[in-house]
Amino acid sequence: MASSSPASPPSPPLHFVLTGHVDHGKSSIIGRLLHDAGALPQGKHAAMEEMCRRRGVSFQWAFLMDALQAERDQGVTIDSSWIRFHSSTGDGSAMREFILIDAPGHERFVRNMITGADKADAALLVVDAGEGLQEQSFRHGFLLHLMGVRQLGVVINKMDLVGYDQGRFEALAAQVRAYLARLDMEPLAVLPVSAVAGDNIVRRGDNMPWYRGATMLEALGGFSARSEAADLPLRLPIQDVYRFDDERILVGRIESGRLQCGDRLLFSPSNQIATVTALKHWPQAQEGENSAAAGRCIGITLKEKIFIERGELASHMQDAPLESDVFRARMFWLSSEPLRPGDACELRLGGMRSMVDVESLEWIVDPVELSRRPAEELAANEIGEVVLRARRMLALDSFDANPATGRFVLARERQIQGGGAISLRGYTDRRAFLTRRATNITRMAHQVTLQERSKRIGHKSGVLWFTGLSGAGKSTLALTLERRLHDRGFQVFVLDGDNLRYGLNADLGFSPQDRVENIRRAFEVAGLFSRAGMLVITAFISPYASDRTRAREVIGEGFREIHIHADLAVCEARDPRGLYKKAHAGEIADFTGISAPYEAPKQADLLVDTAANDIEECVRMLLAYVEAEFRL
Ligand code: ADX
Repeated sequence: MASSSPASPPSPPLHFVLTGHVDHGKSSIIGRLLHDAGALPQGKHAAMEEMCRRRGVSFQWAFLMDALQAERDQGVTIDSSWIRFHSSTGDGSAMREFILIDAPGHERFVRNMITGADKADAALLVVDAGEGLQEQSFRHGFLLHLMGVRQLGVVINKMDLVGYDQGRFEALAAQVRAYLARLDMEPLAVLPVSAVAGDNIVRRGDNMPWYRGATMLEALGGFSARSEAADLPLRLPIQDVYRFDDERILVGRIESGRLQCGDRLLFSPSNQIATVTALKHWPQAQEGENSAAAGRCIGITLKEKIFIERGELASHMQDAPLESDVFRARMFWLSSEPLRPGDACELRLGGMRSMVDVESLEWIVDPVELSRRPAEELAANEIGEVVLRARRMLALDSFDANPATGRFVLARERQIQGGGAISLRGYTDRRAFLTRRATNITRMAHQVTLQERSKRIGHKSGVLWFTGLSGAGKSTLALTLERRLHDRGFQVFVLDGDNLRYGLNADLGFSPQDRVENIRRAFEVAGLFSRAGMLVITAFISPYASDRTRAREVIGEGFREIHIHADLAVCEARDPRGLYKKAHAGEIADFTGISAPYEAPKQADLLVDTAANDIEECVRMLLAYVEAEFRL
């Protein structure tokens, strides 16, 4: 699109989106804005007015926008169109560059917002003065909140249709402000405008003398272009690896932060470290620069010969992304085929692709009432919170910490079906699991084999890993079973969560991080007992499925996951130590089932239902299981 040719603009361009209900006049506002700001191609407006006159229809800005859209569409296949224009926003103020991101239609708007195709610095939410807020207005407001657009203006359009009534404007303005306040958003301006008459878009006009605030263009001029990306921690997703002779060049776009030659980089999730020897500006081979910041596409070479694949995320060591195979996400769903727990999708995150399973749908939100309710599925246009579990370790940033890398999309059959923002609430960094600090160590082999030990003891060794909510009966059953098995000649020992927390794990609390470490120590100890030939019964809540999977990997063949199951309601009613009561009263933080997650096993080796069976019956079941599985 043509623009008035400016002197070089003093500040970076402001990217903004115009959003709102489909009939509330976005095209007219855009047409009027461009026209009055002098940014339309010469003669376009006059020609269009002439054409309308000839055809006997009244001129509408939307026609002009459609005509321009059609011109832009020739040769343009991207999902949104950027309309660039320059304007001075006030008396004598400097020229500024604006980029209006125009995504035609609700569907495209939503898609571009969640994929980050439109990295808008600011948004204008358009509301029809006559119709007021419609459901789509709320959805768009919510989506702006979800995707972290913090600079917002509200444009109450079509004031001409309500007789430029100040009372109507103020009532609507109060309603929008109240809604946004509940989303923690405060509009920087709420403006009454008439796109048709041109009031308060670029010119003030005479129809609303009661309004003394900014015009739309002035409000836009007051927004700042985002430059913080460079000030956030470094994130360089590796998009590809090229080989030239002996050299390997890792290429990608710096999503945030800065990078310098000589920096030590940590690659996640593979957890490898290397030093940058050179920056190659990619794809142009401009040499000589030795630093780059957010927004640049670059190639880097490394000193150490390490194996890095597409999909790795490079950062500095001190503020690395988190490593987890499970995370929570606030999602907007687009596809007419709903998303349900158990579904598999492709997660696309930066350059990374991984299959994920929808572990649970926590709630969906009503964007009008802002209330949450449980649901079986997330349908088209709905917003909800899900827990996603990947089939491998991922490098993750929460959206709040880094909007550039904390957003993702989900695809099925190569179609983007939804997307959203990552939250790591309740989940923890597993990097420690993958890191061994000691170097120069060698495994020593025992001269006594496990078979020899088992033969002497008379049964196979192993670990009965009890998992379940507090109050489900893990400790009670573990200790009773220990007594009975001992009486039958088993070499058996119980490792109990509460007991270990008096000694070995006395330094740990109940934060997600501490629980992971608690379970790591527990399974390492259980593994040692088991390798010594004993049968171990563990009684830990062990709320995270990943930890139990890791326990199975470390302990190996003799590991059995046993779900000691009773519903939360049953455990709460039992409340043997009064802990649920305290948790509800807010006296215990991070209490499993109340304020911390419990991920029940999907396929335990054995399920013991302590609500349906008494202790004796449960023990009988466990004894039979042990006899069948561990007796030689
Ligand atoms: S785990 O989550 O890290 O596996 P663990 O089994 O060791 O927990 O300890 C759970 C026991 O600690 C519970 O049975 C309960 O007696 C006590 N406890 C104290 N605070 C909490 C809490 N915030 N959440 C769960 N259990 C708690």
